[in-house]
Amino acid sequence: MNDAPTPREHWSGTLGFILAAAGSAIGLGNIWKFPYITGENGGGAFVLVYLLCIAVIGAPVMICEITMGRHTQRNPVGAFKALAPRSSTLAHLIGLGVLLTGFFLFAFRDWGWGTLMVILGLLIFRYSWTLVGAMGVIAGFTILSFYSVVAGWTIGYIWKAVFRQLNFADVAVAKEYFGAFIQNPAWAIGCHFIFILLCVLIVYKGVKSGIERWSKILMPLLFLLILVLIIRSITLPGAAAGVRFYLTPDFSKINTGSVLIALGHAFFSLSLGMGAMITYGSYMGREQNIFVSTLSIVFLDTLIALMAGLAIFPAVFAQGFGPDAGPGLVFQVLPTVFHQIPFGAFWATLFFLLLLVAALTSGISLLEVVTAYFVDERRWSRHRATVVFGFVIFLLGSLCAISVANWDRLAWIHGLLVKVFGSVKGSFFDVMDHISSNWLLPLGGLFISLFVGWIWGTKHAVDEIRHGSHNFADVHLISLLAGLKDDPSHSSEIHVITLASLWGIFIRFISPVAVLIAFLHTIGWLDLRP
Ligand code: TRP
Repeated sequence: MNDAPTPREHWSGTLGFILAAAGSAIGLGNIWKFPYITGENGGGAFVLVYLLCIAVIGAPVMICEITMGRHTQRNPVGAFKALAPRSSTLAHLIGLGVLLTGFFLFAFRDWGWGTLMVILGLLIFRYSWTLVGAMGVIAGFTILSFYSVVAGWTIGYIWKAVFRQLNFADVAVAKEYFGAFIQNPAWAIGCHFIFILLCVLIVYKGVKSGIERWSKILMPLLFLLILVLIIRSITLPGAAAGVRFYLTPDFSKINTGSVLIALGHAFFSLSLGMGAMITYGSYMGREQNIFVSTLSIVFLDTLIALMAGLAIFPAVFAQGFGPDAGPGLVFQVLPTVFHQIPFGAFWATLFFLLLLVAALTSGISLLEVVTAYFVDERRWSRHRATVVFGFVIFLLGSLCAISVANWDRLAWIHGLLVKVFGSVKGSFFDVMDHISSNWLLPLGGLFISLFVGWIWGTKHAVDEIRHGSHNFADVHLISLLAGLKDDPSHSSEIHVITLASLWGIFIRFISPVAVLIAFLHTIGWLDLRP
């Protein structure tokens, strides 16, 4: 066999990259989660806070990830391996801290967590920054395992909508139906399997003829579907109340809690913190513009989230329901709403199809992270990696699917987890969600910005960003705003605000601090609530 690495596949152009990355970003987070957390946190006011989080933290961190990927042309583990110095004082300090925490926990006879911390501390000493990449690959497994279960439910609901089985007189009936549906292992696991199969089939085909090709088909379809649904929703009699609710800011509902929710969601929604964008960036050619791509991805992701709210709330209000249904909004309230309007089964089918399309382009990005790691670092063939890990994730996800209702069917795993961690909140599904959303992603985001800001260095990163970005990075923002862009007296080389210098400041100081505060708050070590 030929040992020379095959040349890396690349996106066919900027559009291909933007659509694939936007496909990763736009997912269940936009259509299922964003509307209901907006509903619970003050409507328009929350949207403003969210936009601020996206601009101040989300976009800068996305630039980090894409730049690391493009520069190294590697998966997250390979990218850190290529860029990290041989020994890093910061990594050693963190490793020491974790190790000491482990011993401290032993002193309190917390053997499970203590052992975990000691192992983690030793791993940090051994692998240093590369561990951040490994955390991303692990997050790929954990996120996809529960994400694909929810995506599976949407497949089941498409089926049920087509065969007109979603006839709910009121939300209580819908709730009961949904409860019975997700507890039925044949449905839950069967649909979950179909979803994983679709992801595997696409990723199997590779970057250009798999991921890019399908993103180019599915993203316009998604846009069309959501547009049709918005038109249906806002033309229902009584829809105006929903539009008003959604877009009128109520600042009294904004508190530290909602700001942190907005920040956490900005991360999840933009697929940040686990190297998905490192991986997609690694298939990018050097002639492509990182700034413009990032802005487009962020713009599309936010646009679709806002549009999802406009498709959902007017219809919900028009039929006399409240906005505060929480996570059950999409599977319980909406089918009931559709049942009450003419051609309801048709609209329900379209809606769940939309949800499936959104979930699919995100699911493939999660599988691609895992695949890229095994292809680059372990020299597996792409075909073998997708099939093997598709199957592993199918098994892991099946545990999520089975455990959703209660732990009874998985008593042994529950027993094991309780033995190690003392107590376990929620099902295996919740555990997977909790580990990834509250731990792996925020820590990943924190370390990625620390790494680019302080270890690899913003200087090297900006050198990479400059390729393909014309003189975008170095435009003097103040001069630009003043309309004096090419004025000779405004071309001073020093002490100017450029996109690059602004980004550097955000990445070195603002992002790490904000993410750290949010992280400490979610794990309960810091209580900011008044
Ligand atoms: N961004 C997707 C959503 O909004 C979910 C997702 C896909 C994701 N890939 C990711 C989240 C990587 C974090 C990291 O539904």
